[in-house]
Amino acid sequence: MSTLASAGATPQPGSTTKKPFGKTPDGQPVDLYVLTNKSGAEVSITNFGGAVVSLKVPDRNGKLADVVLGYDTADGYVKDKSYFGALVGRYGNRIAHAQFSLDGKTYTLAKNNGENSLHGGLKGFNKALWKAKILSKKDGQSLELSYLSKDGEEGFPGNLKVRVIYTWTDANALRIEDSATTDKKTVVNLTSHSYFNLAGQGSGDILGHQLMIQADKFTPVDPSLIATGELRDVAGTPFDFRKPTAIGARIDQDDEQLKLGGGYDHNFVVRRSADAGESLAARVVEPTSGRVLEVWTTEPGVQFYTGNFLDGKTAGKGGVTYPRRNAFCLETQHFPDSPNQPKFPSVVLAPGARYHTITTYKFSVEK
Ligand code: BGC
Repeated sequence: MSTLASAGATPQPGSTTKKPFGKTPDGQPVDLYVLTNKSGAEVSITNFGGAVVSLKVPDRNGKLADVVLGYDTADGYVKDKSYFGALVGRYGNRIAHAQFSLDGKTYTLAKNNGENSLHGGLKGFNKALWKAKILSKKDGQSLELSYLSKDGEEGFPGNLKVRVIYTWTDANALRIEDSATTDKKTVVNLTSHSYFNLAGQGSGDILGHQLMIQADKFTPVDPSLIATGELRDVAGTPFDFRKPTAIGARIDQDDEQLKLGGGYDHNFVVRRSADAGESLAARVVEPTSGRVLEVWTTEPGVQFYTGNFLDGKTAGKGGVTYPRRNAFCLETQHFPDSPNQPKFPSVVLAPGARYHTITTYKFSVEK
């Protein structure tokens, strides 16, 4: 059972507490929810942008470290340009020329990434104040966030009702369940944008992390990082992570796609198992701490991004900074620019249908 402890109290194992986290630019209070599971591992989430603010999990000796990048107060998230921990929508990843058509009508979005639209536009879901409700769950602590994205918001059609349920289980798994309905045909592609460093946030680069991605193909990009529409075999390329390989082993190779991304910034096609549930998309091991992260998802793709645009100028949690490649993201999603790529799995949501995806980030240790 989740309990709502009083603000400021030390989180007790098996509880969820709520505390003040600052204010939005127009003065509305922002909260931080601290979900502590039975073993004392802890996730904190703010209702501003629905962001995961911290995630404290044990190493092989049981020592907790915070393994995600973020900020100490709401103000950091108000100013953030990197999408630290955020819920990204209405459309995660890029839409070419900030434009798409549905049933013959063209919709124009803001160009917030060169000529393209990125992560929902100028004021995406990561800048919204979500409604929060603590839920009671048998297997852990749970928080429901909801948001109504109005018809025409950031150029997208339809009133979209979005609900995200975060569950932090007693087995150290963060389950994220997204659902949405609309009253007009629209496109939806939600994702979660945590930047992970399994040695601990602010502890250096992630090039020594061993990564496995269960993908035989990836979606190459053009110079503006727009998917070309091709599904390319990873075999024989630095994109082959089918066997665990250090993230840094090939990142600076003379490869056209790595050069375009400044490192990895690509969508991989998840090899899905036949049943309809979640498939293992990726597994990461940090050798010195022994921490392991597995990513399971119902989504067909995962964007692997190595924090190439981090520049060490932003002040993060506890005063640390985050230089280039100090974290990686594994953003489960439909493929980039799907609204303009008829061969990619569809991202269209029609009235009467329900968008529903589940992604689970499972933490454990290797001895
Ligand atoms: C994109 C990057 C982008 C980052 C932060 C990632 O999902 O793939 O290109 O820089 O988000 O905006």
